[in-house]
Amino acid sequence: MLTVALAKGRILEDTMQRLRSAGFSPPEELLDTRKLVLEDKKHPLRYLLAKPSDVPVYVEHGAADLGVVGKDVLYESQADVHELIDLQDGRCRIVVAGPSGLDVKRVTRVATKYPRYAQAYFRTLGRQIEIIPLSGSVELAPIIGLSDCIVDLVETGRTLKENGLIELVSLSAISTRLIANRRSYQVRGSEVDHVVSRIRDSLCEGSVAQ
Ligand code: PRP
Repeated sequence: MLTVALAKGRILEDTMQRLRSAGFSPPEELLDTRKLVLEDKKHPLRYLLAKPSDVPVYVEHGAADLGVVGKDVLYESQADVHELIDLQDGRCRIVVAGPSGLDVKRVTRVATKYPRYAQAYFRTLGRQIEIIPLSGSVELAPIIGLSDCIVDLVETGRTLKENGLIELVSLSAISTRLIANRRSYQVRGSEVDHVVSRIRDSLCEGSVAQ
C-alpha cells in the first residue's frame, strides 16, 4: 500500500476530484472529518491529511510515498523530493503587491509567508530587503505601515482589491504538484508508476475534452 499525503484546505477538493478522475476512490469523508488517516475505498492507497507546509516534510522523510501540494509551498520548503507531475489545479500566482504607485526598486521592508520567493526577486533588482515573516492576513502589513509591500498569493484578486492594494509584479504561476519520496520512487517504482500513469492519462483525457 502506498501512502499519499494530501494538503488540507483550499486545494483538497480539487485534489480529490483529480484522484477520482484518475480512477481512485478517496473517501468523501476526507472533506469533512477529524480523522487524519483514511484508506482508499477500492485501491491500495492510504491518505494522510496534513497541513500544506508539512506535506513536503512527510514525503521527504518517507512517512508518505507521494504527496500533493502547491508549487508555492514546495518551492519554499526546499524539500529533497521528486516533483513528478503538474496537476494543473489550484492555479494562482505569487506577486509583489502594495499601494498604487509604489516603486519596487525603492522597497526596503517586505511582509510575506514566502521569504524565498521574495529574496529571489529582490536579489534580481540588486536590493537587500528586510523580510517581515507573517503567517496569514499578510495584506495588513502595508496597510498599517509594517512593510512597504507584500509577496503573496493572488487567486481572484479580491483580497488585494478590498484592501486597497494592487499587483505590482507577477513573480510565478502556481499550481498543485504530485511529489514522491526519492527512495519510494526507486524501491516501489511500479506502484508509483501505476498512480502516475493513471493521473497522466486523466490529465490528457481532460485536455482532449476541453
Ligand atoms: C491567500 C493569500 C491571500 C488570498 C488571495 O490567503 O495569502 O491573502 O488567499 O486570494 P484572492 O486573490 O482570491 O483574494 P489565505 O486565504 O490562504 O489565508 P491567509 O491570509 O490566512 O494565509
